[in-house]
Amino acid sequence: MMSSPTSSIRLLHWTIAGLTIGALVTGFTLTNTDPFSPYLLKTHLALGLSAGVLALVRTILWLTKGAPASVVAFQSALQQALGKSVHAALRLVPLLLLISGIGMIVISGSLETIANGTFPGLEAFVGLPPAGLHHAAALLLAALIGLHSLAALWHWQRGFYPGRQ
Ligand code: HEM
Ligand code: HEM
Repeated sequence: MMSSPTSSIRLLHWTIAGLTIGALVTGFTLTNTDPFSPYLLKTHLALGLSAGVLALVRTILWLTKGAPASVVAFQSALQQALGKSVHAALRLVPLLLLISGIGMIVISGSLETIANGTFPGLEAFVGLPPAGLHHAAALLLAALIGLHSLAALWHWQRGFYPGRQ
């Protein structure tokens, strides 16, 4: 069943979008910065957890109430199918990041040292299965967001949004 996109659904979209992009930027900066920054790790955990929990709320709404109706005025059947698949992936991949992120912290037993400021560095996560999943899911999500933003720009330039978004 499709329900019409209310302003609260749009607010949820832009809140998740901002938090997710923040989590991607802090995540890649974290793993590519020497020396390790505990402040960046904590910022990443706050952004990632908030994005992941809100993505879970959106997925529950999707499963119980259906997807919000598209705001695009016209699409071919192929574009529509592609759009639906990318939107489904954009709802689900953040959940993989939530699970694998929590998995890394739990399996390595790092919660206490992160909280009390004695966490030594990212070596604690090397070789853990959730770390590989987190890395792959982050790359996939970055690619999907790129595709999604290009599609939004393309539709906007061609006037497919009737005064919305
Ligand atoms: C960065 C810039 C972004 C732009 C310009 C953008 C734009 C849009 C637009 C215009 C729509 C409506 C499309 C339609 O109704 O057919 C939409 C829907 C959607 N977007 Fe984005 N978006 C962005 C980022 C993101 C991010 C980061 C995510 C996921 C983490 C995301 C997930 C979704 C989903 C799941 C939908 C389907 C409707 C819904 O469930 O809210 N978007 N986006
Ligand atoms: C939508 C949510 C999230 C996004 C987009 C995201 C994104 C990222 C990215 C891009 C990286 C760098 C990956 C790499 O270079 O290999 C990273 C690393 C990391 N993330 Fe997340 N993340 C999210 C949620 C979380 C959550 C919820 C947690 C924990 C509760 C978490 C914990 C970590 C940790 C510990 C690292 C360092 C991993 C390592 O050293 O291999 N992330 N994240």
